[in-house]
Amino acid sequence: MPLRDALAAAFTPTMLWSFPLLLAAIAALSAAAPAARRRLGAAGLLALAAAVGLLLAAALRTLGLQADAGFYRITHGLAVLLLALAAINAAAATAFGVILPALRLPLSPILRDLILAVLYVGAALTVAGHEGANLTGILATSAMVTAVVAFSLQDTLGNVIGGMVLHLESSFAPGDWIRVGEEEGVVREIRWRQTTLDTGSGNIIVIPNSSIMKGTVTVLGRAAGLPPRRLMRVPFNVYYDRQPNEVIAAVADALRADPPAGVAADPPPWCVLVDFAEGHAVYAARYWLRDLGRVEAVASEVRVRVYHALARAGIKISIPSRSIVVTQQDADVQERRRRLELERRLAALRGVDIFQSLTDEEVRTLAGRLKATPFARGEAITREGAAEDWLFIVYAGEADVRVHAAGGPAFQSVARLKAGSFLGEMALMTGEPRSATVVAVNDVGCYRLDRAGFKDILARRPQLAEAISLILVQRRLELKSAREGLDEEAGRRNLGRAQGDLLSRIRSIFSLGG
Ligand code: CMP
Repeated sequence: MPLRDALAAAFTPTMLWSFPLLLAAIAALSAAAPAARRRLGAAGLLALAAAVGLLLAAALRTLGLQADAGFYRITHGLAVLLLALAAINAAAATAFGVILPALRLPLSPILRDLILAVLYVGAALTVAGHEGANLTGILATSAMVTAVVAFSLQDTLGNVIGGMVLHLESSFAPGDWIRVGEEEGVVREIRWRQTTLDTGSGNIIVIPNSSIMKGTVTVLGRAAGLPPRRLMRVPFNVYYDRQPNEVIAAVADALRADPPAGVAADPPPWCVLVDFAEGHAVYAARYWLRDLGRVEAVASEVRVRVYHALARAGIKISIPSRSIVVTQQDADVQERRRRLELERRLAALRGVDIFQSLTDEEVRTLAGRLKATPFARGEAITREGAAEDWLFIVYAGEADVRVHAAGGPAFQSVARLKAGSFLGEMALMTGEPRSATVVAVNDVGCYRLDRAGFKDILARRPQLAEAISLILVQRRLELKSAREGLDEEAGRRNLGRAQGDLLSRIRSIFSLGG
């Protein structure tokens, strides 16, 4: 057969058109959907292979092979099939890469593969039928082959079927936190054979779908209609010398007042008495974890808060009973501790400017009136509007003074208080509610001096009232400017008068002469 006729026989007009159309579509799609480029590349290669196959078929005809010769039919049929597969891939890239994403209809990888597989088989059967193959025979043989393959690939098929079931049942989906046996993590992908979990600790776990199907899967933190959350517990031990309700309140109040990041504010954290053990009672801080990927980090933050809350309430975390006996018997150790604490208090007081003029005796007396009140990073030391009347003396860490800006819920930072500062003088000296919220920027070491202790020292040193009122007025001015966006210069002009007024008020509150 002449080459021209052979080419015309191999490339029907439809096929001739389909090549440029396909290549143009692939080029356009590659630009529109970069994510689908791999599939489009495959489509391009298949189209190229189809063209080579058709040329080969034409060559066979020029060599004298008839249209019904078996070898020609197979060659031609395979070439046509490659062309069909190229078209299917280009169509799939359009559907999966452009149309479905635009409609926000996500399709799982398994379903995509399944649709493609059905289309491939359909194309193969159509082409085979077209080339005159005996379809009944093919189907019968393929059923046999399928049975043999299925038998020899039992495990793989178990995984594949598992994957399909997981998809169809949607028991869990990518993004869910699940626990399978010992393993726990966020589901990244459910594929034909396996499901991948990201443990959040730098590992990816690949679990065969069949083992997921066989075992129990816990989808963590997914209760119907609620945002993901997980109930956690952080146990701690306390000696029996304190009332359980006192311990529970100290911990629960601190955690509720400022839940650490990752802990749900609603429902709020709580604390329970878990057990009566030998030498100590076992408690647990309980909370709903919102950030499921930070189990350990959040638990650690909760422990830090528990530690500080207990320290503020003067409650001791218990240590193993053997060490109790040793330390309690050791009076030297007790004495050394007491001395160290006294030194720390004296240093804290000596670090505050306004106490510089006090005698050693006065500082010692004052030190005896202090109560240790440490705060963990993120905790509020005091809150705007609270009715409290004690003074805090900061000896370590840093605290941020914040107020609500006029008319808004947003906080505005007014000042930073460092070691050597005091706070709370306003409410203490004027009897007004707290003027600002003060939050620990990092762990803050501070002591609390209550009203009676403060009154004592003022009675001995009335000049202190003046020094404090000067600072107080200055701070008030800053607060006012921050709240109202006031012109600071205008406020400063009234500073002198304001201090005079305030001082006489303080004198009368604390019954000071002068
Ligand atoms: P009090 O009003 O009792 O409680 C909040 C405390 O924040 C307040 O006392 C001051 O001690 C402190 N405070 C308020 N404004 C400032 C400021 N401008 N600079 C430093 N500390 C401040």
